[in-house]
Amino acid sequence: MKAVILAGGFGTRLRPLSCTRPKLIFPIANRPLLDLTLSRLAEHGVKETILAVNFMADTLEHVFGSSRFGMKIHYSKDIIPNTQAQAKACSPKSLGTGGAIKQAENLLDDKEPFLALNGDILTNANYSAIVETHRKLESLATIALRRVNNPSRYGMVRLQDGRYISEFVEKPSSGAPSNLANAGIYVFEPQVLKLIPKSQSCSIEREIFPKLARKRRLVGHEIRGLWVDVGKPSDYIKANKLWLNTQSRVHQKPMITGTGIEVSAKLKKAVAIGEDVKIKGGAIIGPNVSLGKKVCVGSGVKIRDSIIFPRTIISDYSIVEGTVIGEAAVIGKRVRIREGCLIGDNTIIHDNITLAKDVKICPSKEIFDNIVDSGCVI
Ligand code: GDD
Ligand code: MG
Repeated sequence: MKAVILAGGFGTRLRPLSCTRPKLIFPIANRPLLDLTLSRLAEHGVKETILAVNFMADTLEHVFGSSRFGMKIHYSKDIIPNTQAQAKACSPKSLGTGGAIKQAENLLDDKEPFLALNGDILTNANYSAIVETHRKLESLATIALRRVNNPSRYGMVRLQDGRYISEFVEKPSSGAPSNLANAGIYVFEPQVLKLIPKSQSCSIEREIFPKLARKRRLVGHEIRGLWVDVGKPSDYIKANKLWLNTQSRVHQKPMITGTGIEVSAKLKKAVAIGEDVKIKGGAIIGPNVSLGKKVCVGSGVKIRDSIIFPRTIISDYSIVEGTVIGEAAVIGKRVRIREGCLIGDNTIIHDNITLAKDVKICPSKEIFDNIVDSGCVI
């Protein structure tokens, strides 16, 4: 079987970190999110995967190359014909979820069903079971469904007889048909591609699924277990935490590849520590922390519920909570960073600075003063 992974979104809610890398290579326990998905697809017998790329396509191609876990990897880039591109000159040029799947048509088999996935989902869903439902019910299109508490962020469905989707509403502002959401995992017969216009922007969720639902041609397959859309900062931190905890249950030992950890430093489960990380005495790391390779942590530093990208330095007695810090940033001594902050690559924060909650700092900024307004972007 083949799979298409939608990998071309702009990751706007994860800016500024997504300005310098695509969301799909954001590390989860020090591995790119997409790597985790690819390894699970391979486990479920997928032989070829097509990455439907657009924003920072070259970076994805550079990271994943032409094969992974024994699977061939192909790239299908959103291409918008000139006239449309000119008309959209002021808006980002992309094909949308439906248009990007259509674009991959010539790389798919015209007789076999295929998997299509939103690339920004961390899940342990059983892909084979979804394919099994699809085949058993001789479905045209099958959508994995997940119960959620906040319907306005998802595509929501009404399910009849526990199987057929009779209504599909993308991001309802009120009155969701149920609490079952589109989980972004699909099995499609090749005929579905015929319903999507070629070389045009098309949202599969807004333009195709509602029509198929009205015709009772959509099957739903409920999934449970690990499932997070890594769309916004708090969900990214949550995804990292859930994955770390799943892994620590499986492997028992913390995921440590470095040896530069002084004996009086304390690691609270679950943590992932990359290669050549240095941690000074008295530091407390965890729970739910990933330190990328070559991160340096000073004496007495406390970090919890956070993700630190490679080569960042966090100096003595600083406190970092619920935060993501990009690559090669330098955090001074006794700095306090609160929940929800996103710190761009190469940022410098000077000694004794306190940041309010949810502050976003763009790459390469230098911060000399406290930031007291929560949610501000610098
Ligand atoms: N190639 C390409 N081109 N990929 C795209 C494009 C595009 O124009 N637009 C989005 N993608 C990719 C994104 O990179 C992401 O992996 C996936 O498609 C879904 O896009 P998001 O922007 O993350 O959508 P969402 O999270 O708001 O909503 C989607 O996911 C929910 C589940 O988490 C929808 O499918 C909802 O219906 C669903 O419930
Ligand atoms: Mg998403």
